[in-house]
Formats: sequence, structure tokens, C-alpha cells
Amino acid sequence: MKKLSLILVIAGLTFFAYNAYGSQPAKAVAENAAPVFVPGKKNVSNNAKGEQIYNQVCFKCHQLNGMGIPGVFPPLTGSDFLKTATKKRLLEQVLNGSNETLTVNGMQYSTPMPPQVKTTDDAIAVIDYVLNAWGNNYGHATAADAKGLQSK
Ligand code: HEC
Repeated sequence: MKKLSLILVIAGLTFFAYNAYGSQPAKAVAENAAPVFVPGKKNVSNNAKGEQIYNQVCFKCHQLNGMGIPGVFPPLTGSDFLKTATKKRLLEQVLNGSNETLTVNGMQYSTPMPPQVKTTDDAIAVIDYVLNAWGNNYGHATAADAKGLQSK
């Protein structure tokens, strides 16, 4: 029994390290095909605040290069959802989280996303960042999009 739990702990840690430090992307990029983005390509939006929030919070699930983990955490890089959802819906995603099953680039994601930021300012910064990082060119989130929104 002891041996088995040790193996499970090691397996768990390996999985965590693998996810947290995003060592899998090269393969995921190839499999996801669609538009080809350069992993880790520098953000061009010059949005230091949004980049910082992303690299402290969001990368845990969506990975540093925004590719996510197919079937578990959806990609932000090249995401059709990100491209087409209203900016308000995107701000709600990070302020209040989401329990919906979302379809992103043809794949369903039913894991819930917990709320990630506490203020609309932080929500605007990080959403504006992901809209323009890694080759994304999906417009901008502004204070006008956050009108009426509040962290719950
Ligand atoms: C604990 C894991 C986790 C963290 C941390 C996380 N997300 Fe998510 N995210 C998810 C999951 C799971 C979904 C899809 C299911 C859902 O939304 O209900 C999702 C969906 C999304 C979507 C819409 C789908 C898409 O791929 O376009 C956006 C945009 C998004 N997240 C942005 C962010 C941003 C920005 C942050 C950081 C502020 C963040 N997420 C942090 C797990 C996470």
C-alpha cells in the first residue's frame, strides 16, 4: 500500500511540474494545427500589467504560450471563442468565472473556470493582453466594455 501511494504522489508531482512549467506545447501546437502560432511569441500590445497577471495567474491552466491543454484547459492562442465573444463576456469570464461548457476551436471544455481577478481594471488589463498576445489580433478591451460589471 505504502509503495502504491508513493508512486501516486510521484506521478502527481510529475504531472504538476509538467503542467506548471508548460513543457508539452511543441506537440500540442502540431496537433492543434489550425493557424500556426509561434509558441512564446512576444506580445505586441505593450501591456505590462496584463502580461504580469497572465504570467502569475492564468498560465497555470492556459500555459505560458496560451495553448492550454487539449480537452482540459482551452487555448487562448488562436481561440475562436476569444475572437468572437463580446469583450463584456470575456471580462465576465475572468471576474466571475464560468461553469458553462465552452466549445473552443471545435473541442468542448466542461471543466469550470473559477474567478481569477478581483477588479474590473485587472480584468480589462489581462483580457486586453490575451486578445493581443502570441500573434492574436482580436481587438481591445476597454473601460466601456466593463460597464455594469462587478466582481461577485
Ligand atoms: C484553474 C484553471 C484556469 C485558470 C487559472 C484560468 N482559466 Fe481560463 N479557462 C479555464 C477553463 C477550464 C475554461 C473553459 C471552461 C469554462 O470556461 O467554463 C477556461 C476558459 C477561458 C476563456 C474562454 C475560452 C477560450 O479559450 O477562449 C478565456 C478567455 C479564459 N479562460 C481566460 C483566462 C484568463 C485571462 C485567465 C487568467 C486571469 C484564466 N483564464 C485563468 C481554466 C482556467
